[in-house]
Amino acid sequence: MKEKIFIKGGKRLVGSIPISGAKNSCLTLMPVALLSENSLVLHNVPFLSDVDTMKTLLESLGCSVVYGGSGKCISLKMGNEVSFLADYEIVKKMRASILVLGPLLARFGQAIVALPGGCAIGARPVNLHLMGLEALGARFTIENGYVKGKVSGSLKGCKIIFPFVSVGATANTIMAAVLAKGTTELINVAKEPEIIDLCQCLKSMGCNIEGAGENRIVIEGIKNLEKTTHKVVMDRIELGTYIIAGAISNGDIKLTGGNIALLENFIEKLNEVGVEVSQFEDHLRVRRINSSSINCTNIYTEPFPGFPTDLQAQMMALLSIADGVSNIEEQIFENRFMHVPELVRMGANIEIEGRKAKISGVDQLRGAPVKATDLRASVSLVLAGLVAEGDTVIDKIHHIDRGYEAIIQKLSSCGAMIERL
Ligand code: EPZ
Repeated sequence: MKEKIFIKGGKRLVGSIPISGAKNSCLTLMPVALLSENSLVLHNVPFLSDVDTMKTLLESLGCSVVYGGSGKCISLKMGNEVSFLADYEIVKKMRASILVLGPLLARFGQAIVALPGGCAIGARPVNLHLMGLEALGARFTIENGYVKGKVSGSLKGCKIIFPFVSVGATANTIMAAVLAKGTTELINVAKEPEIIDLCQCLKSMGCNIEGAGENRIVIEGIKNLEKTTHKVVMDRIELGTYIIAGAISNGDIKLTGGNIALLENFIEKLNEVGVEVSQFEDHLRVRRINSSSINCTNIYTEPFPGFPTDLQAQMMALLSIADGVSNIEEQIFENRFMHVPELVRMGANIEIEGRKAKISGVDQLRGAPVKATDLRASVSLVLAGLVAEGDTVIDKIHHIDRGYEAIIQKLSSCGAMIERL
């Protein structure tokens, strides 16, 4: 029987939630193991189904991947038997599989990677990944749903200007350029903390990378990467999600390991709507400034450091009970409003026009049976369920397990009436 989540709304969250390592950083860091014969040990790894999928993919390429003894640790080391085929059966489960393309080409000069295909939130093309890798010297053909890449000789550094910001294309090109001959200059790159985390890990392996987190990154290629141990950066999207859980439930929660520096724009918006997020030594504290109300606001999603698209659905749940009318414009993905019809079933008043949503706040949401469609949409339904009157049952919750480690335990430890059916 497909698992569901049951929530009885109306409980104020009070207590403390630990923030895990970042899914999107971990999925970008794991393919780094393909670049070297030496070991990569990652700490603060979140136990998520996506991490398991990346483990399976890397093992199929000849990498040994072992969950370490001391808790959230994973050790990766490339073996001698290498496969260059990333099979569709694995890739179709997780788009981040495309991130093995750059490392395979850089180290072995060949790769056959299934095209990841689209997902609920959009077509998700990979043309910028291919553009960056082609500029470095790779040649691609696309045959029956697979990207086949070849490099004659080795990759050669060059100047690459991305037409628009892509986190994945930035990561793939950086991972290829570290083994390319000579200097690579990347312009208009993603500045996300996950990119900074990737570059810090690569630098700890001996790579020469300048400008991580800025608009321009310069990389001097090297021959071999040394072994390293790296701690995965805190998950800013999980953090933002639980900040909204505290706000929407009119609670008072501590988020241990939280760091507001990675969410400045988001925190500013929360202050605007009446939510106070205070930074202490080892945790954040979240509560409403005026416990009776949330104010409306207008938001548009942007690449970092703008408002994160991965927190758009969660913010919409909060704004659905704000005083007044809010507007959200989703500028990154073409179809990231799949949560709207489900929130409307819970009594929200939201109108969509293209990439714009108009949210007219209501006094009360009501529990209802709803379905999850993608990772962040599904967690926005959990947030709505926390504050809704009555019972909410969320179907297709495998989406949530991809990106939220122990979410039932974390929320119920703060008093939420939530369980997995
Ligand atoms: C990463 O996806 C994240 N995933 C996404 O998180 C996140 O929403 C996204 O960055 C934006 O921040 C991981 O890190 C594993 P993009 P990515 O390339 O790299 C278009 C989550 O919920 N585009 O920055 O795929 C693309 O379609 C997930 O955790 C091209 O057109 O995002 C999108 O509209 C969802 N061609 C926009 O650019 C390309 O070659 C930004 O995509 C690549 C992207």
